[in-house]
Amino acid sequence: AACGDFAGRLLDWYDRSARALPWRVPPGSGRVPDPYRVWMAEVMLQQTTVAAVAGYYERFTARWPTVADLAAADDADVMAAWAGLGYYARARNLLACARAIVRDHGGGFPDSEAGLRSLPGVGDYTAAAVAAIAFGRPAVVVDANIERVIARHRLIETPLPAAKRAFKAELAPLVPADRPGDFAQALMDLGAGVCTPRAPACDRCPVGADCRARGRADIERLPVKPAKKAK
Ligand code: ADE
Repeated sequence: AACGDFAGRLLDWYDRSARALPWRVPPGSGRVPDPYRVWMAEVMLQQTTVAAVAGYYERFTARWPTVADLAAADDADVMAAWAGLGYYARARNLLACARAIVRDHGGGFPDSEAGLRSLPGVGDYTAAAVAAIAFGRPAVVVDANIERVIARHRLIETPLPAAKRAFKAELAPLVPADRPGDFAQALMDLGAGVCTPRAPACDRCPVGADCRARGRADIERLPVKPAKKAK
């Protein structure tokens, strides 16, 4: 593929290398992911690793297969099922959100980023992820893995968190209209398995040919962390 075609190279790689994760549909399968399941996974994944989330995700979706089932659950059962995942405000928000969907949205998730953003506990990240992955909206999804990939590829030296705006501005024109969810998840997989914090495997990177940080001795410094507060 041409050097300029960032999304094309990334998606070709993803079609061959995507991690099979319980909340995903395989790329190219033509299946559409259930917004409820995407939302559940993205809420769980926010401050928690993929490995830690997988079992919880399976148990929650088996016990409460639809948003209406979750909305009708007892608070204590949901909190008990969440035990061990941490950040318990997420569990309280999960229930509040499920009930808001049943009460205010006829049992269906809003299909736009702005609509999703209005739900309890749904912030910028979750709204963008659900809009892109479940509804095919060209939302710009930025998590820690994606920040690392784009900071390196575009050599963005602005420290976090201010760099977030620059990351979004760089990514927005790259999002492919036909596969925004796969694009976001491909960047996550690239950051998790290739463009790693330490010793990135640049020889295996599908977008390495025009990466501005490749070969630099200081590549591990990117993305630049927030300045430490003076004592
Ligand atoms: N981290 C957050 N969301 C994710 C997803 N959809 N796939 C893999 N890792 C993730």
